[in-house]
Amino acid sequence: MSSNGLTESEDAPATQKQVRVWVDGCFDMVHFGHANALRQAKLMGDILVVALHSNADITAHKGLPVTTEEERYKMIRAIKWVDEVIEDIPCYTSVELLEKHNCDICAHGANADGVDSYAAVKTAGKYREYKRTEGVSTTDLLQRLLQMTQQHLCANGCDPHNEGNKFLASSKLITEFMGPETREPSSGDTVVYVAGSFDLFHAGHIDFLQKCREVGNFIIVGLHSDREVNRYEGRSYPIMSLQQRVLSVLACKYVSDVIIGAPYTVTESMLDNLKVDYVLHGQTPVYPNKDGSDPYEAPKTRGIYRTIESGSALTTDVILQRIYEHRLEYIRRNSAKEAKEERVLESLKKRRDSARVANV
Ligand code: C5P
Repeated sequence: MSSNGLTESEDAPATQKQVRVWVDGCFDMVHFGHANALRQAKLMGDILVVALHSNADITAHKGLPVTTEEERYKMIRAIKWVDEVIEDIPCYTSVELLEKHNCDICAHGANADGVDSYAAVKTAGKYREYKRTEGVSTTDLLQRLLQMTQQHLCANGCDPHNEGNKFLASSKLITEFMGPETREPSSGDTVVYVAGSFDLFHAGHIDFLQKCREVGNFIIVGLHSDREVNRYEGRSYPIMSLQQRVLSVLACKYVSDVIIGAPYTVTESMLDNLKVDYVLHGQTPVYPNKDGSDPYEAPKTRGIYRTIESGSALTTDVILQRIYEHRLEYIRRNSAKEAKEERVLESLKKRRDSARVANV
């Protein structure tokens, strides 16, 4: 048996056939848990094919998605481990569907046992599981957004949503997200520096980063601390903690490096140390620093500051607005989802416990 779980006869040498791994799903409000799933799935073969359900299918089976089809397709295409995206795939995964797209195995997050939409591929021996990423889910993000429609959790700058959160940002995970292509910029590179919250990393950010790649080929993203984001965005922002935002941004194929907790003011020494050729910002407002100064004064004086038109009006606030507009529907969707997730976690715990007993 090889590392991807295929038997010798199925596991053809790389020169003959590459192993194509299929992952399907809704991928609503794509987050680093999705990215980590796709990273693990890619390790199971050579080509990662991600198939997404349409909004009509998701609405019929799970409830109204927050993001549009175009936004979801764009987000998944921008994840560095994804090779192919297939649009508008039904919610049931058949062996015929895998064969039609020339896929060898189907990967999914560790799930409850029993009959499910993967029953056929399980029976056919084509099903593989990757580990779920604790501490992040669309349900959790939706819950944070719903909470923001009712009250503001923290007015004095902290990490409003993450108390008790199970997510642990290990250096191992961050390194895995950086990937093997990690490198310093070389003399032939054009280094671009962008800064922001990049909260709830969304399709508007992807459009912006794509445009930044037209200016330079080495993109460094400076992520402001939770306290800083809360200072300029107010209310209960940021929705995702700095560590969570780091992983979301690192999963994007346009990003070369991330500064974790970047200073709000872009200084001369930062520009020199990072060898920055251009500092870019989109059309969204630039808030002054605490003392009223312009955070981009240094790059403006050097003549290396540019404004970029991302062409997208999507912002984290726009996503929050969608939640306000369909609040009751999302509350219904989330209570059903929460109950299901609890059942899955309980079942996984039982599975782990019985494996432990069997090993004693
Ligand atoms: O708002 P945030 O700090 O996350 O934005 C990060 C960067 O992405 C900023 O330069 C912002 O102007 C840009 N952006 C954009 N188009 C969008 C959303 C964000 O250019 N739709």
